[in-house]
Amino acid sequence: MRIKINQIKESDIGKKITVKGWLKTVRNQKTFSFLDLNDGSTLQDLQIIADESAKNYTKIIEDLTTGCSVSITGEVVKSPGKEQSFEIKATEIELIGKCDAQTYPLQKKRHSFEFLRTIANLRPRTNSLGAVTRVRNALAFATHKFFQEKGFLYINTPIITESDCEGAGEMFKVTTLDLLKPPLKNKKEIDFEKDFFEKPTFLTVSGQLEAECYACAMSDVYTFGPTFRAENSNTARHLAEFWMVEPEMAFADLNDDMDCAEEYLKYCIKYVLENCKEDLTLFDKFISKGLVKKLEHVVNSKFERLSYTKAIEILQNTKKKFEFPVKWGIDLQTEHERYLTEEHFKKPVIILDYPKDIKAFYMRNNDDGKTVAAMDVLVEGVGEIIGGSQREERLEVLEEKIKKMGLDPKTLWWYLDLRKYGTVPHAGFGLGFERLVQFVTGMENIRDVIPFPRYPGHAEF
Ligand code: 4AD
Ligand code: MG
Repeated sequence: MRIKINQIKESDIGKKITVKGWLKTVRNQKTFSFLDLNDGSTLQDLQIIADESAKNYTKIIEDLTTGCSVSITGEVVKSPGKEQSFEIKATEIELIGKCDAQTYPLQKKRHSFEFLRTIANLRPRTNSLGAVTRVRNALAFATHKFFQEKGFLYINTPIITESDCEGAGEMFKVTTLDLLKPPLKNKKEIDFEKDFFEKPTFLTVSGQLEAECYACAMSDVYTFGPTFRAENSNTARHLAEFWMVEPEMAFADLNDDMDCAEEYLKYCIKYVLENCKEDLTLFDKFISKGLVKKLEHVVNSKFERLSYTKAIEILQNTKKKFEFPVKWGIDLQTEHERYLTEEHFKKPVIILDYPKDIKAFYMRNNDDGKTVAAMDVLVEGVGEIIGGSQREERLEVLEEKIKKMGLDPKTLWWYLDLRKYGTVPHAGFGLGFERLVQFVTGMENIRDVIPFPRYPGHAEF
């Protein structure tokens, strides 16, 4: 029976096992070969010693090249090398799939991440992308574990929707109309009644509004799914398709929201520190020096909480020059966010009570008439990792806000219903899952922490 490489233990020395995977390197000596095998279960390649005594060895040795897939049976033996404590002495080698050495793009040298993006189909075979994949998986598991342990119900919100949750107009249209000959209304407007859903529809930017419906029945819920933004941002922190974790809590205010966000982030980081030690060592050594210390520091620090107004004061009083000038009412830019968390406080920061004019319609008005109960969590290297708020639960106030922002209350009848029928204070947030993976791995570009990144001009694979 096949065993995964990460399952082999020192106590297996003397046992016969079968492993399957792809060869990372092949070093042929005069009478025997060293093969390094990887199957994705761990960063560590498994060293295999094969010589003529192994069945098939002479027949296939020519074809054993980097990248080919093999099945190897042999005995686990103590390794004399200092790289590993055990290795496999092969008794039988089966070549499953040859690999064309002339064209195989992954040679044994360091490739740039830009180059690897052009072979996103093969890049999970590299050490760094393999490690990202395992850490990403661990963070997804930790996410479910955290919310499940707290009694949140996992719900799935729609991908296709009529509503623009964030109101920023960054939606991808979904249509089955013939773009060359769309049906017209009054000869000039597209007649969406003839479209598949009989209305204009889009890919969702957030599952929040639908999650609120479920929170206002099930109390605590979370959704974790793909979201889409048609913003033309070519940065190392933006994707057109990204995954968002969105908890929503009934009978909760902004303080409960911030507490949950801080606890959740720390839980995920701790989980990875405990369960992905080997992969973190790689990131610490080659990608972001001091990463593990940074993560431990985050787990052990109390996040700084301060109002937007106070944050603006700090930004105005520093000698640092910013590209975007600072004054009350602006939306904070990444340079501002990073200054606050990296240079001023040197730990994660939660900024709350933002000006109402720069935030979405659903956020609860504060009594000062100028701000809303919103909060953003900022971390080193990334800036905003979480955005959330207490939701406006007062019907009249919400209706007023919707109208003021130029939205149509009629299309949001279902959302307003929640405020008519047993309304409750409630709050939630959204965490950009790729930004979390970026933060935990120290990877510089968000395009390298999702398997197949989508950004302007790029939807290949
Ligand atoms: O701040 P945002 O836009 O908030 C919402 O969508 C709310 N409806 C969430 C909620 O309260 N349920 O997005 C939330 C997070 C950001 O903090 C950021 O981490 C991430 O999503 N994010 C992106 N990540 C990658 N690429 C993009 N283009 C992103 N836009 C937002
Ligand atoms: Mg935001």
